Amino acid sequence: MARRISFLLNGELVEMEVEDHWTLLHLLREELGLTGTKEGCGSGECGACTVLVDGMAVNSCLFLAADLDGKEVLTIEGLAAPDGTLHPLQRAFIENGAIQCGFCTPGMILSAKALLDENPNPTEEEIRHALAGNLCRCTGYLQIFRAVADAARRISQEPIEVFPRRTD
Ligand code: FES
Ligand code: FES
Repeated sequence: MARRISFLLNGELVEMEVEDHWTLLHLLREELGLTGTKEGCGSGECGACTVLVDGMAVNSCLFLAADLDGKEVLTIEGLAAPDGTLHPLQRAFIENGAIQCGFCTPGMILSAKALLDENPNPTEEEIRHALAGNLCRCTGYLQIFRAVADAARRISQEPIEVFPRRTD
């Protein structure tokens, strides 16, 4: 069965029909062409599909698209500023060597964003805990943890409005 929903996606209002069985991951990648969100396991184990829904990190492979009605979604495509300036987390990941193949990176960055929005000055233990559901097969994790700590420092020094907000 299909139903009509409306939601904010990276700051833009989207109104569309979705099938009851569609996941948010399917909606993003297959229906809307936003392939920055990755599909790894498809069963809530790897975190590659992580996006923010109302500011909370969720596994989009487990989240039903129909439940998006009235909610706000942020994917990796919406993280940079409108002029293309990268978010401090994106810059910190690049500059700390926290990206190799890049498959886990969108999910890592969005999990880290949820953490820093809630806790702008996390300990290493808190960073490790926040990213415990995101698997990386390449970097060995230390560069990733370092990048999140570096991003926290950058954000505290140059606070910016990073989550797209409804303008109407
Ligand atoms: S693809 Fe969703 S958790 Fe692995
Ligand atoms: S950079 Fe390759 S899986 Fe993380």
